[in-house]
Amino acid sequence: MRAAGPASRPALPLLLLLLLPSLAGPGMSTAAAAPPAPRLFNVSLDAAPELRWVPVLQHFDLDFLRAAIAHILGYNVPKWVHVVIRTAVGELERLLPQPFIDEIRGMCDVLNLSLADCVLVNLAYESTAFCTSIVAQDSRGHIYHGRNLDYPFGYFLRKLTVDVQFLKNGQIAFTGTTFVGYVGLWTGQSPHKFTISGDERDKGWWWENAIAAFFQRHSPISWLIRTTLSESENFDEAVYKLSKTPLIADVYYIVGGTSPQEGVVITRSRGGSVDIWPLDPSSGAWFRVETNYDHWKPVPEKDDRRTPAIKALNATGQANLSLETLFQVLSVFPVYNNYTVYTTVMSAANPDKYMTTVRNLG
Ligand SMILES: *[C@@H]1O[C@H](CO)[C@@H](O)[C@H](O)[C@H]1NC(C)=O
Ligand SMILES: *[C@@H]1O[C@H](CO)[C@@H](O)[C@H](O)[C@H]1NC(C)=O
Ligand SMILES: *[C@@H]1O[C@H](CO)[C@@H](O)[C@H](O)[C@H]1NC(C)=O
Ligand SMILES: *[C@@H]1O[C@H](CO)[C@@H](O)[C@H](O)[C@H]1NC(C)=O
Ligand SMILES: *[C@@H]1O[C@H](CO)[C@@H](O)[C@H](O)[C@H]1NC(C)=O
Repeated sequence: MRAAGPASRPALPLLLLLLLPSLAGPGMSTAAAAPPAPRLFNVSLDAAPELRWVPVLQHFDLDFLRAAIAHILGYNVPKWVHVVIRTAVGELERLLPQPFIDEIRGMCDVLNLSLADCVLVNLAYESTAFCTSIVAQDSRGHIYHGRNLDYPFGYFLRKLTVDVQFLKNGQIAFTGTTFVGYVGLWTGQSPHKFTISGDERDKGWWWENAIAAFFQRHSPISWLIRTTLSESENFDEAVYKLSKTPLIADVYYIVGGTSPQEGVVITRSRGGSVDIWPLDPSSGAWFRVETNYDHWKPVPEKDDRRTPAIKALNATGQANLSLETLFQVLSVFPVYNNYTVYTTVMSAANPDKYMTTVRNLG
């Protein structure tokens, strides 16, 4: 889909597949008719950050996870960034916000990897997530939100995709979809409040700018999604926090609420919002589609996932909108493509319907 695509990927993944016959992958052991849902885990925020992911890790082959991390770091992270992070890791430990740094440290200890590598892989995912997100309102005023996450390392990530219910006091505080080892969220839901997805906004010079901002304590994109899910009380507060908090890179945040008109695409620069694009159903704008380009500019012809998504939504019609039809829209080529790792559809008013499907399982 993109210039930096994985066309030149070596044969390593095949080798790993042969070495790891036990990894049939999430969902693949169930009946063929069942949708390929990722594994679902509870992670308790009442447990110490260092310990709370350990029960999740126990369900995964640690050699596979180490291989995935090595592969992604090798591809994605320039050498100078490794040097900078390794040199500064002591400082970063003091600088980085909780609970993220302690969660990373805890997983890193289990994996027996250096803290620098674990921090880096958590940043590496931030730089290459190509996606489609849709927020929409049906004729009765219900809000639906869906997303495709497209990513070049699908071979690994399909097996590491998990839905996580984060518990506070034994209750589900929020839900998200992520990759094991990655403490941020690109997709999530605060039940009966709001849903959030993030789509990359590529501005070039990613590592240079991101590392500089990281040392100024700007938030990684996916950490802010998780913090907002954890802390914001309602849709308006979430939109405010996602608009104002300094970030390490540009992004599009797509937010859905529970009441009519609660749907918005926030175009972010590192410092703040550049544009706020809400639903406007009374003027016929009952959906907003965001891929990886500013909505007020034309999309590049070589990567137009926007027009096919709009066509499919038009064909569906507002009256027929549901999580099922939204999933179908997110299954139309090239909205759905060979890099699509997972699709999530969700509606904060109906939190039990949160559904992630791992795609391209072959
Ligand atoms: C952890 O990694 C170190 C250095 O890479 C190695 O020497 C050690 O044997 C490893 N420990 C375990 C338990 O695998
Ligand atoms: C997760 O926690 C919830 C709330 O306590 C509980 O109802 C559910 O059974 C747990 N699910 C798993 C997969 O452990
Ligand atoms: C979708 O429908 C709207 C309203 O009828 C129309 O203006 C727009 O051109 C349609 N877009 C596509 C891509 O079909
Ligand atoms: C909803 O779907 C039905 C069956 O697929 C179709 O006949 C109908 O025209 C659709 N309604 C709208 C408003 O598009
Ligand atoms: C997607 O993958 C399939 C199966 O490997 C291949 O036949 C097809 O050409 C690919 N499509 C694109 C657009 O790359």
